[in-house]
Amino acid sequence: VNPEKERLYEAYELCSKLYHFLLKNTQHGQEAMAYLRSRGFNDKLIDQFGLGFAPDRWDTLVQFLGKREFDLLEMEKGGLLSARQDRDGYVDKFRNRIMFPIHDRNGRVIAFAGRILGEGQPKYLNSPESLLFNKSRTLYNLHQAKTSVRKQRQIILCEGYGDVISTWEAGFQNVVATMGTSLTEQQISVMKSMAEEVIVSYDGDRAGLNAAMKVLPMLENAGLKVRIALLGDGLDPDDYYRKYGGDRYRHVLENAAASTKFKLIYLKKNHILLEEQGKIAYTREALPVIAELSSSTEREVYLRELATELQLSYESLKQDCNLLRQSMQ
Ligand code: CTP
Ligand code: MN
Ligand code: MN
Ligand code: MN
Ligand code: MN
Repeated sequence: VNPEKERLYEAYELCSKLYHFLLKNTQHGQEAMAYLRSRGFNDKLIDQFGLGFAPDRWDTLVQFLGKREFDLLEMEKGGLLSARQDRDGYVDKFRNRIMFPIHDRNGRVIAFAGRILGEGQPKYLNSPESLLFNKSRTLYNLHQAKTSVRKQRQIILCEGYGDVISTWEAGFQNVVATMGTSLTEQQISVMKSMAEEVIVSYDGDRAGLNAAMKVLPMLENAGLKVRIALLGDGLDPDDYYRKYGGDRYRHVLENAAASTKFKLIYLKKNHILLEEQGKIAYTREALPVIAELSSSTEREVYLRELATELQLSYESLKQDCNLLRQSMQ
């Protein structure tokens, strides 16, 4: 055991409890509580995810940790405090923010993300990497999701904190998030060790669609089955759930698109199918996606759909598809 590491675990645990207490039981927390309620995060969810509040002061943790005789330099290295610019001493890293504790897979607090109340930059302030926190190995909420993931052999992957919380409330406990950064091979191998299938439920905006397109081959190459939830409208899972409710969000997750379907929808967005050039360009991009399917039944299903959609004959699409397959060998 590394004593510095153990002290940092203890500090994160205590601070997480303090932030949670301040949110729920003090005057300082009132505005944050109102903000969370306005977003639909009720008390049960706030408790389940251990949400907290860092007051608008420079010394909440400085005092709290100091009194408990933690070494403040160690706490700064661990990401809870910042060194003062002007003179000796430390200030709190997180001020006037909603606090999302981030846990390792065993449920120990290893970092925080602090969200600003309402609009402003940066929207989220994150703990730096530390003795405890390696971002590329961490999946948000894995500690609460793992039992359900193992049981169902399936994991739902989102981008952000609110998405996980809303998906959980919608009835899916097997939900985790990458916390905004691109999915890493380490995160993939963690998922692979627990699940056979990943449902990607990324934001429905351009960035989210691009990210989904990027993780698809990574997950498939790792031998995972992949489906993608289609939210549309540029909404993220949290927005979608709040706007349309649990029934519709559950339907979207349960009917998540197979990867070929998603790729075709994604490619189609770039073309105007009413124009000849658009049709041809889309077909040129869509055929390789279909051609790489090893099952001829699957190829026929997608080629027939494409034919109907573009008002082309199945035969000519099939011919082009087969030519492509030959050139691929
Ligand atoms: N993120 C981050 N730092 C930022 C912006 C985003 O770490 N400045 C991460 C967070 O984990 C966030 C995720 O990326 O949850 C997705 O980003 P975004 O879609 O912009 O935020 P939301 O999660 O939708 O945030 P909210 O609903 O609170 O506005
Ligand atoms: Mn509580
Ligand atoms: Mn986004
Ligand atoms: Mn989002
Ligand atoms: Mn959101």
